[in-house]
Amino acid sequence: MSKVIVVYHSGYGHTERVADFVAQGANAQKVVIDADGNVDEAGWQALNGADAIIFGSPTYMGMVSWQFKKFADATSKQWFSSAWKDKVAGGFTISASPSGDKLSTLQYFITLSMQQGMIWVGQPSMNDGTVNRLGSNSGVMAQVGPTSPAADIPQGDLDTARAYGARVAEIAAKLRA
Ligand SMILES: Cc1cc2nc3c(=O)[nH]c(=O)nc-3n(C[C@H](O)[C@H](O)[C@H](O)COP(=O)(O)O)c2cc1C
Repeated sequence: MSKVIVVYHSGYGHTERVADFVAQGANAQKVVIDADGNVDEAGWQALNGADAIIFGSPTYMGMVSWQFKKFADATSKQWFSSAWKDKVAGGFTISASPSGDKLSTLQYFITLSMQQGMIWVGQPSMNDGTVNRLGSNSGVMAQVGPTSPAADIPQGDLDTARAYGARVAEIAAKLRA
């Protein structure tokens, strides 16, 4: 079995709801990036001890939130010692518009993972109109309208998130073996 951590920032609870499903699929522990962009010491320890790390952020102005970026910058400490090299990586985001430039957010996660020497896992579920309805293969995309609560996130998006978590965990377990 692999140890998977889902580390995420959520301003208003939408990313958190997606994180719940990713974590469920991966049987993962969640680590929160707080409103000041900080992770507590226990969170850092969990991240450093993980086989796989799945990054989550809302898409704000076509990119990760500043809180997530502050976290990413703080991982320069791990970069200096290649501490996260060969860990498995994945990511998810949510936005209000069908596109909303979410791809930029996933691509930032990929860049961060490559900088850290991690091994990125794509999202292979086919778009059947419900699962992976937004047709993303770089990672998980979810979307719900700007005035909708997190409870209204389409179930297909959440199912996609759960399946992706399971895939990351499975790949991490294979690599660990
Ligand atoms: C500062 C800010 C910037 C946003 N920028 C975008 C954007 O670029 N594209 C988009 O589709 N939605 C955008 N949104 C909407 C959020 O992505 C969306 O509401 C998301 O579900 C919020 O997740 P959260 O509740 O985890 O913060 C933005 C929201 C905020 C507050």
